[in-house]
Amino acid sequence: MGGVWVWLLAIAPLVVHAFPRWDTRTIDVTGKFWHVTDLHVDFSYRLTEDHTKVCLTSKGENASNPGVFGDFLCDSPYQLILSAFQHINKSEQKANFMIWTGDSMPHLPVNDLSTKMVIDMIGNMTTTIRTLLPDLLVYPAFGNHDYWPQDQFPVAGSEVYTAAAEFWKPWLNDDALYTLRKGGYYSQIYRSSPSAQPLRIISLNTNLYYGPNKVTINMTDPAGQFEWLEDTLYASRQHKEKVYIIAHVPIGFLPYFAFTSAIQKPFNERLVTIFRNYSDVLAGQFYGHIHRDSIMVLLNEKENPVGSVFIAPSVTPIRPYEESGNNPGFRIYHYDSNTYNLLDLWHYYLNLTDANLKEEAIWKLEYIMTEIYKIKDLQPDSMEDLVKRFAKPDSLEFKTYYKNHVVQYELEDCVGRCKVLQVCSVQYLDSDSYFKCAQENL
Ligand SMILES: *[C@@H]1O[C@H](CO)[C@@H](O)[C@H](O)[C@H]1NC(C)=O
Ligand SMILES: *[C@@H]1O[C@H](CO)[C@@H](O)[C@H](O)[C@H]1NC(C)=O
Ligand SMILES: *[C@@H]1O[C@H](CO)[C@@H](O)[C@H](O)[C@H]1NC(C)=O
Ligand SMILES: *[C@@H]1O[C@H](CO)[C@@H](O)[C@H](O)[C@H]1NC(C)=O
Ligand SMILES: *[C@@H]1O[C@H](CO)[C@@H](O)[C@H](O)[C@H]1NC(C)=O
Ligand SMILES: *[C@@H]1O[C@H](CO)[C@@H](O)[C@H](O)[C@H]1NC(C)=O
Ligand SMILES: [Zn+2]
Ligand SMILES: [Zn+2]
Repeated sequence: MGGVWVWLLAIAPLVVHAFPRWDTRTIDVTGKFWHVTDLHVDFSYRLTEDHTKVCLTSKGENASNPGVFGDFLCDSPYQLILSAFQHINKSEQKANFMIWTGDSMPHLPVNDLSTKMVIDMIGNMTTTIRTLLPDLLVYPAFGNHDYWPQDQFPVAGSEVYTAAAEFWKPWLNDDALYTLRKGGYYSQIYRSSPSAQPLRIISLNTNLYYGPNKVTINMTDPAGQFEWLEDTLYASRQHKEKVYIIAHVPIGFLPYFAFTSAIQKPFNERLVTIFRNYSDVLAGQFYGHIHRDSIMVLLNEKENPVGSVFIAPSVTPIRPYEESGNNPGFRIYHYDSNTYNLLDLWHYYLNLTDANLKEEAIWKLEYIMTEIYKIKDLQPDSMEDLVKRFAKPDSLEFKTYYKNHVVQYELEDCVGRCKVLQVCSVQYLDSDSYFKCAQENL
């Protein structure tokens, strides 16, 4: 009996597809959560002869190859968003919860938007998710576009924080809603079972630290979030909780611009220090914003791996920078429901060109992380081992990583300077070590 059980556990991940009823046996040990980010809906999207008029977000350019599910020069048509949540609705992967890390608004000039539009959009997306996933608990975070004027998140309450707190009442408790209204951040406990160790989700408003935010320049602790974060982590340690950090703008350095962190440098340094200090409590960090499927490994001062960091790519296919767009994607993480240690991630994507051609959105499994990279789990040691393999010349793992980075968008290989920037940003999150890596290798 014992032997059969061990065998079942060992092969169960491979056969859940063929025998979904076995899923219930693995639920005891494996929890799951979806991660969806950067929806960026463009309600102006429509198919029309004049390709400059397909979407406002192409900013007068001709859409490249427009179809029902979108175009690489446009933000998401509502159809694309619906197809993503419909796929999750029908998926045989049963999740315990979802994280949704912001950016619902389209990439449009400030004068084309307003606070009312931001609030309506957050409301529309929330209702869309609640309609398709009525029983799923969702932990949201604000993105830098979920404000008007964009990026300028304030430090002491706002109409947007208050409106979002109303929309998110079905998912968040009163304590969470209280800090959400004040500073756009919150924490809330999730328990996989009444007897299990508690997991605390900390949703940070890293938009307060984002480079273009002029409101918070020269502040030492915008909205008191650092102090709150440290107090919260300190209490988590006392109460033997585990913590997942979710936020929109990631820590660390951008993988495609040299020497540039996404958040302002002093704020980045402070976050890295805090996350190192509490690495015993933190079981994972999850971000969006850069629209690229990325990983980072947090090293401590002795360069030992102490944290696993994930950036999910966007649902919007738009090219935010000249060089490349991405196919729409989202993922589900698998975790140990006793320790909340991350076990695996399954990434799904839509081949946009193909979906438009067939007028049908067929979302497919793009990869299973442990299989594609031959790692045993998503723990910091395994991630560090992988990243070290990326750095080798002609690394096949890195080639795969870069294809996944843009979600199978057709693109030249990343070599030379491109690869140095990638490899440094994946390995080094604080200024000193990142600069050293980039300066020595560029
Ligand atoms: C869009 O395409 C049309 C037809 O090919 C062309 O005449 C027009 O100049 C293009 N507009 C822009 C802004 O590129
Ligand atoms: C969201 O907006 C879309 C497009 O305008 C509309 O079709 C849909 O009914 C709206 N949904 C909600 C819940 O407001
Ligand atoms: C899928 O959507 C339907 C209709 O909105 C809903 O009744 C059902 O509970 C959803 N399934 C899941 C897994 O959320
Ligand atoms: C921030 O501080 C710097 C250096 O003290 C100063 O030059 C700058 O004017 C300040 N900016 C704002 C917006 O307060
Ligand atoms: C690390 O956390 C402890 C409390 O657990 C605190 O006293 C200490 O100041 C922190 N150290 C740093 C470098 O932030
Ligand atoms: C996406 O679909 C197009 C059109 O069917 C096809 O040419 C292309 O190879 C597909 N890309 C991938 C990564 O499957
Ligand atoms: Zn975005
Ligand atoms: Zn963003």
